[in-house]
Amino acid sequence: MKFTEIEYGKLKDEIIANDRLYYVLDAPVISDFDYDQLYKRLQLMEKENPKWVSSDSPTQRITGQALDAFEKRAHRHPMLSLQNSYNADDIFEFDQRLKRALKSEEMIEYYCEPKLDGLALEVVYEKGTFSHALTRGDGQVGEDVSLNVKTMRSIPLSIESDYEVFEVRGEVIMLKQDFKKLNEFQEESGASVFANPRNAAAGSLRQLDSKIAAQRPLRYFAYAQGVFEGVNYNYQNQMIAAFQQQGLPVLDDFQEFNLTRLCKSPEEVVEYYNYIGSIRHELPFDIDGVVVKVNDLKLQEVLGFVARSPRWATSVKYEPEQGETTINDIVIQVGRTGAITPVAVMEPVNVGGVNISNATLHNQDEIDRKDVRIGDHVIVQRAGDVIPEVVKVLEEKRSKDTKPYFIPKNCPICDHETFQGEGEAKAFCVNPFCTGTLKESLKHFVSRKAINVDKLGDKIIEQLVDLKLVEKFSDIYALTKEQFLSMERQGEKSSENILNSIEKSRHVKLKNLIFALGIRYVGEQTASILADEFGSLSALLKAEYDSLVEVKDIGPKVAESIIGMVQDKEFQEEILILEELLKIKVEAKIDSSEQKLKGLSIVVTGTFDLPRNDIKAEIIKLGGKSPGSVSAKTDYVLAGESAGSKLKKAEELGVKVLSWDAYMKLIY
Ligand code: IVH
Repeated sequence: MKFTEIEYGKLKDEIIANDRLYYVLDAPVISDFDYDQLYKRLQLMEKENPKWVSSDSPTQRITGQALDAFEKRAHRHPMLSLQNSYNADDIFEFDQRLKRALKSEEMIEYYCEPKLDGLALEVVYEKGTFSHALTRGDGQVGEDVSLNVKTMRSIPLSIESDYEVFEVRGEVIMLKQDFKKLNEFQEESGASVFANPRNAAAGSLRQLDSKIAAQRPLRYFAYAQGVFEGVNYNYQNQMIAAFQQQGLPVLDDFQEFNLTRLCKSPEEVVEYYNYIGSIRHELPFDIDGVVVKVNDLKLQEVLGFVARSPRWATSVKYEPEQGETTINDIVIQVGRTGAITPVAVMEPVNVGGVNISNATLHNQDEIDRKDVRIGDHVIVQRAGDVIPEVVKVLEEKRSKDTKPYFIPKNCPICDHETFQGEGEAKAFCVNPFCTGTLKESLKHFVSRKAINVDKLGDKIIEQLVDLKLVEKFSDIYALTKEQFLSMERQGEKSSENILNSIEKSRHVKLKNLIFALGIRYVGEQTASILADEFGSLSALLKAEYDSLVEVKDIGPKVAESIIGMVQDKEFQEEILILEELLKIKVEAKIDSSEQKLKGLSIVVTGTFDLPRNDIKAEIIKLGGKSPGSVSAKTDYVLAGESAGSKLKKAEELGVKVLSWDAYMKLIY
């Protein structure tokens, strides 16, 4: 095929724009499949015309190179740390200090932003092109982690302007939800888990094998400057806005929250500090405080530095979310993949407003490393606000009669010997008839994002398995009212409710059903990719390894796991039964050429079965707009469950409100 260089440039820009929509704005407008097609086309063009390939081409992100060690490299300007303060009083003192230094009582304007709990990274662009990226190191000399940073698709390989030198500083973090998924993956593959998102981000950024780093969901937020040549800013907020214009990710990209604020007085800073403290747990990432910076960059220069910190900035931290308690027992949980996990059962303790009584101990190595024993006094914390964990044992409070704990070699539920692969941290119960594994698989099968039988709670599932009424997924559809009535605490009404919700679940989307099957490593995202790719369960049964690894985002490990499952006779039989029993919906691919929403402005509010961002992306794909707030210019408000103020506003302004069904009618 013949392509022109202009076509190549356009395609390259299109992919770069989609990377930004996906990785920075969380609002993809094309499907993974369509993205793949674009990418493959770019690869083809580059293969035929190698001399066109520029360093900012998306194909140049992953070199697959592994290093023995990172090169050291000096920062042009040292990377400093911040002075810490801890409360509102400190904020007033900071303000007073600056006024004294400036010998002026004039109000100082402060730019305030969250203090991200990750690690600092300097990204250097030269003549508008990515040159290299350095960790902070000792502040003077950092490590060159360029190969890994280039794999992070939220970091542009070229910026809009071709400034001579443009050094941007910011934080590499991992979002809580990505951290959780990564740890699940680590746990299932028997690898060691990360203690918190910060460690996961640090471990990933400092991976010597850039192929592994490429698979880690790292994010970056730019918040400060290094050396700039050929460009000058006057204010911190102006600089951040310029970063955003250059295509760099900044905290304001999170439009759901007002994360940054310009404050005109220390009182306003205190208000901001309290506000961020109050939404801290809802944020998609960990923060440990806020950072307060003098907004006027000239004033920053005048104020200068004290020792190793700027005088013009301070961090104001929040109380660490830890608590002290005692371990009453250690119990074993058997997961749906058979994974054996030791869990500490503790005296309940309030940590950051949440009562904690369980904490995962991960595996034997972790128990040994921390030397955790039953009866110990421990410090616990919420890691990434997800799983509580034991930070450390207070050895000085240990009584003499505590003994080290060892995970039993046999499954505590079925007594089958467990299996632990060589070099793996986790043991698994491999008995296919283990009722512990079955109960957990069933709980997953009926969960909301899977087949969604909302009335079938954990306790009932446990009874159903104990009574041998359910031995595989499809048995659920043969349950009768009499059987429920014969169970503990089940009356006429509740039995009917359960049966109704089972009936309702027969209408299921293929992607949800694939997710429900609980194939190891096949999470929501992968299930959706498989559904798009195969289109039916029977086609998935015929999948072959080679074709699976061809699919985007499916690596060898995932492919092996799928093949292992689909070759299993019992699994095959079960799939065929489910196909008979269920009315499986394959989502029609929307033809975006139709542009059914052209020119329409639709605000999405409330909760839906889909993430709101997916719906917004679809609206944009169909030619519409989906702003964050309702105005007189809004054509429709698409309202899901528990829609609040935006719905009210729509009603006040007389904007038409759409239900999900009405929206469906509009686009199909
Ligand atoms: S400004 C001269 N802004 O905190 C200091 N730092 O203690 C310039 N950090 O190494 C840093 N969030 O890793 C700044 N919004 C933010 C930050 C932030 C986190 C970290 C950064 C730095 C450390 C300083």
